[in-house]
Amino acid sequence: MTDTENLKQLFPGANEIPPEHRLASPVHQRTYLVGGEFRTWGGECKTVLSPICERQADGSVRQLEIGSYPVMGEAESDAALDAAVSAYDNGRGEWPTMPVAKRIACMQDFVRQMVAQRQEIVNLIMWEIGKSLADSQKEFDRTVEYIVATIEAVRTLDNNASRFEIAEGTIGQIRRTPLGVVLCMGPYNYPLNETFATLIPALLMGNTVVFKPPQYGTLLFWPLMQAFCSAFPRGVINTIYAPGAVVVPHMLASGKIDVLALIGSSKVADHLKKQHPKSHRLRAVLGLDAKNAAIVLPDADLELTVRECLLGALSFNGQRCTALKMLIVHRSLVDEFLHRITKAVGQLKIGMPWEPGVSITPLPGLHRTAYMTEAIEDAKAKGARVVNQGGGAYCATLYYPAVVYPVKEGMKLYREEQFGPLVPVMAYEDVEEALAYVISSDHGQQVSVFGSDPVQIGALVDPLVNQVCRVNLNCQCQRGPDVFPFAGRKDSAEGTLSVNDALRAFSIRSMVAARQTPASKRLLDDIVRDHRSNFINTGFIL
Ligand code: G3H
Repeated sequence: MTDTENLKQLFPGANEIPPEHRLASPVHQRTYLVGGEFRTWGGECKTVLSPICERQADGSVRQLEIGSYPVMGEAESDAALDAAVSAYDNGRGEWPTMPVAKRIACMQDFVRQMVAQRQEIVNLIMWEIGKSLADSQKEFDRTVEYIVATIEAVRTLDNNASRFEIAEGTIGQIRRTPLGVVLCMGPYNYPLNETFATLIPALLMGNTVVFKPPQYGTLLFWPLMQAFCSAFPRGVINTIYAPGAVVVPHMLASGKIDVLALIGSSKVADHLKKQHPKSHRLRAVLGLDAKNAAIVLPDADLELTVRECLLGALSFNGQRCTALKMLIVHRSLVDEFLHRITKAVGQLKIGMPWEPGVSITPLPGLHRTAYMTEAIEDAKAKGARVVNQGGGAYCATLYYPAVVYPVKEGMKLYREEQFGPLVPVMAYEDVEEALAYVISSDHGQQVSVFGSDPVQIGALVDPLVNQVCRVNLNCQCQRGPDVFPFAGRKDSAEGTLSVNDALRAFSIRSMVAARQTPASKRLLDDIVRDHRSNFINTGFIL
């Protein structure tokens, strides 16, 4: 199944989509949520094309239309932002002052409603971004688990702060408090999970939110609108459907955004941060580009290495920020490595996302297959070749993975984050060359090291942990488990996201302090006993 005609046959013809995996009907979203109200949009709308194509009677293939959503502008983004500002009300709003136990109850209500929409949301993830059904289900379930874990973490955080501390004659109570209005934007590859990785902790810490869904992966939030509206007080979540380039710089230029939560590109993040009139006031929580390398040492277990590299490079078609995007293999085993990895690529199932066991599925648009082709042509023109048979063949959005060797400095594939089914391989003689690649990279998220010699691995880990934020030994790069810190250096991230770290990222410690005198003690006792403050209290959330 490696040439264009064969790939075309993998798309369904009319009436060949299994009925259980069809969308019940296209989703033509016209309402949006602002200040606790659903408003109806009567203006221009954008048609949503699925990565999944259908074979036509005339032999062509066409991306299927699965719905549409509003194309709003600055007036609507102003309204969404003003609603979030008003709900925050300079920290005096219902949500930022609400006791944490009540906020938790709202979030639990939201999760209950979300779980009821599982099937529809999973189906929309699959149809909007072409993620396999199994991975779409995994994304949904992992997100629910993340919310549940975050609720537990916020409970613990609050309970640990429910006491007074005394130091140097000063009584203090220290709690984490919200930052203000958060603009949340997630990526298309994990539209639900990565959006909620910032949105949920931001909400639980008492911030209000403007939420802009990603360009691909918009409709899947539609089944959650009712829950957004009913689970939280008015204006806590406000949505905007608009081209990012039009409304996002505009919202930042207003100076009303306190936190920019973006999982996207470093170029966009750099531009956006500069728009804020007082840049020191803007907090940024960013998950950005990455070009994670795998370093394969001469004594690596090749069977394990190939298995992990394949998963690392090609899970969800290589569209993971944590994907292995450059394989650096010791020259003594590069031929055997190439032989084995091309064989393993040849065994991957390519097809439609609902097919059991499928690995390679359609990319989000024709521009992505065009980019893959461009990157391969560039590498070929500069001396590399596609090693696997049929690598780089494509039909519309379906792209057959290509193992490209030898990749070297000057080729797009050497430095650019391909974010697709391309597997660049280079060989090295001295491990210093592999280290130099990581050091000279603009990215600093993770690396994988494959080998078994404790002396060599030990010596390699020490410089690598100061270049990236996670060194994976004999396994692919990945984000999880979600309680571990997910961070990056250089152009790869700002801030750390994990269940616990995200709660910190969206809050700041604030404290109440008084001299350690009988009068202060009486005052604080009275406030606590009579529940005069949500902040000064020693209550325990069970
Ligand atoms: O795209 C970036 C994701 O956070 C990667 O997550 O390693 O669990 O696939 P993952």
